[in-house]
Amino acid sequence: MDAQERGQERVRPRVVLGVSGGIAAYKACELLRRLTESGHDVRVVPTAASLHFIGEATWSALSGNPATTEVWESVHEVPHVRIGQAADLVVVAPATADLLAKAAHGLADDLLTNTLLTARCPVIFAPAMHTEMWENPATQENVATLRRRGAIVIEPAVGRLTGVDTGKGRFPDPVEIFDLCRHVLRRNGTAHGAAALPQDLAGRHVVVTAGGTREPLDPVRYLGNRSSGKQGYALARTAAARGARVTLVAGNTELPDPAGVDVLSIGTARQLREAVLKAARDADAVVMAAAVADFRPAVYTTGKIKKIDGAEPEPVTLVRNPDILAEISVERARPGQVVVGFAAETDDVLANGRAKLARKGCDLLVVNEVGEHKAFGSAENEAVILATDGTETPVPYGPKEALAETIWDLVALRLTGPAPESPV
Ligand code: CTP
Repeated sequence: MDAQERGQERVRPRVVLGVSGGIAAYKACELLRRLTESGHDVRVVPTAASLHFIGEATWSALSGNPATTEVWESVHEVPHVRIGQAADLVVVAPATADLLAKAAHGLADDLLTNTLLTARCPVIFAPAMHTEMWENPATQENVATLRRRGAIVIEPAVGRLTGVDTGKGRFPDPVEIFDLCRHVLRRNGTAHGAAALPQDLAGRHVVVTAGGTREPLDPVRYLGNRSSGKQGYALARTAAARGARVTLVAGNTELPDPAGVDVLSIGTARQLREAVLKAARDADAVVMAAAVADFRPAVYTTGKIKKIDGAEPEPVTLVRNPDILAEISVERARPGQVVVGFAAETDDVLANGRAKLARKGCDLLVVNEVGEHKAFGSAENEAVILATDGTETPVPYGPKEALAETIWDLVALRLTGPAPESPV
């Protein structure tokens, strides 16, 4: 290894992947591959129980580093302290109920639990267990304790569990865990001793809408739009990383559920309205990133509309959909709730945006120019965020996550009063 390679070696973010004893350990191989392939230096620390599912050889081969379970190996290197101290991020995936309990109580009877006690960097837990174990008050209290201390505990997914049962407790999508890891590292930096991840949305409930609505004309046709949902999903992911409980109301997207986020799927504007009004009841902030259809066909034809030889097609009559943003802005579900809208404009972008901010009555309006090759479907965006106090915050062209972060910065500034869900 020459000096340059050694230099590169030093700057690789150091990630500890803790693996505890659940069947989802095999899915952590995918997470490990993604982390190593994207340039992270990963040290896998499996628990003894997890080796029943995936052996040490797999972790060593995939990570290129030794994978040790006990504190008694390579004792001269003091691994029980050094691994945690040197890490830029610790991610425990899967995290069993037992591991969460040990972490919450500060037990340290193997290398992983010792590492958790010595880590000064952000820690992410990706739980996987049966629904009964997840919902057990003991587990829930352990999770609350860990979150209160600043750890990110991802909400498990709902779906097929080991065997034939289904429910909450499924291991979150490894791609989503990977995205969260990268996001946390990006926010936090990799320098040893960097500041802890800002958790300025901890204890807050935020509702985000994403994607686009579809208004059916008949069983096979609909009026829709070109929204991919990427901006809304970036908002949901970044809010979760900043500690919020997130409800994502998603319309017709093909994106994987963001880790740790409650996703409600909707089809039409009226379904979106119902879901948002319900979720907003206890929300601290609502961000309406979805492209909501302003109109819907006045009549839904239950059978497929057929063409009739020689006859012109019937015109389609449209009626107005409710304006959800205007409604929730006027009738705030709770005092101090912050409401954010988006304005998709093709012409006179800023002038239309300013008029729309006044018309809708929201606190912030994210104005972006849209067109065939602009904003829709792309991973990047640029915008100006208009506020009711007259401030205008331009966000240069960049990843949708960067725009999402700026939106949350401005939302966090406007949240007043203590976080209602914070433990007292
Ligand atoms: N919106 C909404 N309900 C609707 C239409 C839009 O809540 N029926 C929300 C969108 O989620 C977005 C904002 O309103 O946050 C602005 O959407 P946009 O389509 O840009 O504005 P319109 O209200 O459709 O205004 P115009 O037709 O004048 O562009």
